[in-house]
Amino acid sequence: MTWPNIRDDLKLFEGYHSPQLAVDVRLNTNESPLPPPDKWVDEIQKAVTTIEWNRYPDRHAFELVSQLAEFHGLQPNNVIPANGSNEIIQSILLAYGGKNRSTIIFEPTYAMHAHIARITGTRIISCDRGESLLCESDELETLTTTKPNIIFLCSPNNPTGIIEPKETIISALEYCSKSGSLLVVDEAYGEFSDWSAIELVENDAPIVVTRTFSKAHGFAAGRLGYAVGATRVIDGMKEVLLPYHLDSFKQIAAITALKYRSEMTERVEYLKSQREKTSEELKNLPLKVWDSAANFILFKPLETVGMSGNDLWKALVDYSVLVRDCSNWPNLTDCLRATIGTEQENNSFIDSLKAILG
Ligand SMILES: Cc1ncc(COP(=O)(O)O)c(C=O)c1O
Repeated sequence: MTWPNIRDDLKLFEGYHSPQLAVDVRLNTNESPLPPPDKWVDEIQKAVTTIEWNRYPDRHAFELVSQLAEFHGLQPNNVIPANGSNEIIQSILLAYGGKNRSTIIFEPTYAMHAHIARITGTRIISCDRGESLLCESDELETLTTTKPNIIFLCSPNNPTGIIEPKETIISALEYCSKSGSLLVVDEAYGEFSDWSAIELVENDAPIVVTRTFSKAHGFAAGRLGYAVGATRVIDGMKEVLLPYHLDSFKQIAAITALKYRSEMTERVEYLKSQREKTSEELKNLPLKVWDSAANFILFKPLETVGMSGNDLWKALVDYSVLVRDCSNWPNLTDCLRATIGTEQENNSFIDSLKAILG
């Protein structure tokens, strides 16, 4: 028997997937620690009985798209939904990347940008950020020399939590307008930060901003993401989506979620206040801590601690606390990332760190 081999360019860099361990406190995948409101779940359960299961779903998810567009002050043809923002990223790369095209990725950032680029056969131009972990003028200058077709920026960035200043996004967008490149701003954590690149979206601008229901909306299990951008860009993405890609259940669940925006905002505010409290506590320990505009915090042990990031990660697991070990990711030696949980989870995390670090 001779088995077919998978393409050898499909190997995700080693150590990306977060181990799923049975622990008491799970702070490793940036999910919301809070389930959606009970009323929402009840409403969805009722709505399920109205679905015509023998029929294909609304192909363009028009009601959902219209509501998202209205919320962002845009038109329905500026919005496209998909099965998680990962599928949105894939659609962007399928439509605007691919053979003989390139994308620039500023490391460290969300690993799936590079991985999906690889899957779609898009050449990756990997550019390291400097000490600040921001995308500064040096990084932006590489655009003129490398001439990528697609520029990925993640703001707030995963795993650093750092938000890119508006000027950075505007500079990248100006480059794109002149060069025919597309600017993608991944805002999976946009609800947790103070400004959004969505304000730059207009039909004359080659920008697309991606969002997800997996984080702020507490709907990671439902797999819904969307993009907003110039109609022309969105139309390009529609070319590569499979017919009826968004099932009827998901469309109903997401429309229902939008009725509970104020509850979602309350949860986001709660998590933001927990983030600030946790960040202060971490800064009182022998750790380097990055300020975050997302629902997670990046940190690493100071040299004086005499522990590697991986040692600290293992020690936390012994206390039944699971965070993300980013210590072997590009430019993140010894770094760990902790998702903001409930107050009780955050307290267990801090108490465990205090016990470990003395
Ligand atoms: C920066 C970033 N973008 C996109 C995603 C994918 O989210 P989704 O669940 O919508 O596919 C994640 C998930 O962790 C993320 O961190």
